[in-house]
Amino acid sequence: MAKKLWDGRFSESTDKLVEAFTSSIDVDKRLYAYDVEGSIAHCRVLARAAVISQREAKVLVRGLEKIKKDIKQGHFEFSDSLEDIHMHIETRLAQVVGKTAEKLHTARSRNDQVALDIRMFLRDETRNIIRRLIELRQVILELAKRNIDTILPGYTHMQRAQPVLLSHHFMAYFEMLSRDAQRFKDSLKRIDVMPLGSAALAGTPYPIDRNYSAKLLGFSKVSENSIDAVSDRDFVIEFLSAASLCMVHLSRLSEELILWSSSEFGFIELPDAFATGSSIMPQKKNPDVPELVRGKSGKVFGNLMALLTLMKSLPLAYNRDMQEDKQPLFEAADILNSCLQIYTKMLPRLIIKKHAMYQATLSGYLNATDLADYLVSRGMSFRQAHSCAGRIVEYANSKGKEIHELSLKELQVHTTLIQDDIYTALTPEEVVNRRTSAGGTARKNVISAMAKARKKLSRERTAFLRAKEAVSMR
Ligand code: ARG
Repeated sequence: MAKKLWDGRFSESTDKLVEAFTSSIDVDKRLYAYDVEGSIAHCRVLARAAVISQREAKVLVRGLEKIKKDIKQGHFEFSDSLEDIHMHIETRLAQVVGKTAEKLHTARSRNDQVALDIRMFLRDETRNIIRRLIELRQVILELAKRNIDTILPGYTHMQRAQPVLLSHHFMAYFEMLSRDAQRFKDSLKRIDVMPLGSAALAGTPYPIDRNYSAKLLGFSKVSENSIDAVSDRDFVIEFLSAASLCMVHLSRLSEELILWSSSEFGFIELPDAFATGSSIMPQKKNPDVPELVRGKSGKVFGNLMALLTLMKSLPLAYNRDMQEDKQPLFEAADILNSCLQIYTKMLPRLIIKKHAMYQATLSGYLNATDLADYLVSRGMSFRQAHSCAGRIVEYANSKGKEIHELSLKELQVHTTLIQDDIYTALTPEEVVNRRTSAGGTARKNVISAMAKARKKLSRERTAFLRAKEAVSMR
């Protein structure tokens, strides 16, 4: 069994159950590359401060690089007795480079080390998600472009309300996902803080240059307070909160895809490659992908709650409870990534049933507001017009007809303000194209909204690539 790095003051070995209970290696081994990178930077900082010699730093760095390679290639043994990834790497380093390894942990604690690792992980993960959000919005934009002439009922209270362009509907998701991207980008500012040098909680007496660590690791700031630096997980909670909202959006989209693909709606069909069958009912084609996106959102929200609850009554500074932050974080990041990825692949292949959507706009009195608006344009007050249109709807309903199916004579019984231009005024196309208020569903508005969105995406893509270049240059 490996000797523990902290066993100096202990007179009996750790109970096996305790080892298994306190170990986090199964979860945090995922951080190994960040842990090694952080340790390499730390060696350089120690050497620069003459805490260790340049030669010793070289030996340590070479050993750390070998370990990173070994772990990557699966040539590394993990064991509960070594608790976590930090102790695994340090213990292994002693086997690889000998006694010099004992100097690595000078001026450092696992408390600032783990804070650094999570920040580095989350910095990459957040950038990944920002990239995925660009890709998904690109797909949505193309879908909107292809459907600029598709009209479907817009709903309120889940009742047919007014016709809208399908493009307009999709562009609503573009807006939601843009806010998500914004939130992730903003949270990067709080992730981008380098905690190393805070040590256990109080800082360190060694003359290390924390700004040099930050520079080596590509951080633009160093933490201001050592106690805060080791006890802060706000940035994890922020990530989970941004992830939760993004999952709310994906889940709402999922709900619509599920409803729309039902026989009751028949608005879309999912591509076969993204649907599954039933083991008993041969006719079934189930929308499992959207159902699972909707279902997985619950886990992400739960993980946000887990982190809030985990942190809410912890006294300063580090407490072992905080080890429980990683599993919910990793799970949420994986879920969000996979959902964004699968929708980016699936959405371009949606089969849109344009005719069914259009047909649905023709029944349910979706043009009643426009009848009222028509009367307003002929001089009636809106309240009066609303009530008159309501009476016409009631009459039409009693005849089992739509407003546009009534004869001019039948309409004129209610008011002589109605002329035969009413029929063109009430077509779905007219109803849509009349909605020219900024942000409305008129075709020309949606076209300019899409042009604006395209520019925005291309700006975001350029900024993303520039940031990526900056990362690879360090
Ligand atoms: N595995 C620990 C965690 O993830 C690392 C920090 C442990 N620190 C300590 N003092 N036991 O939180």
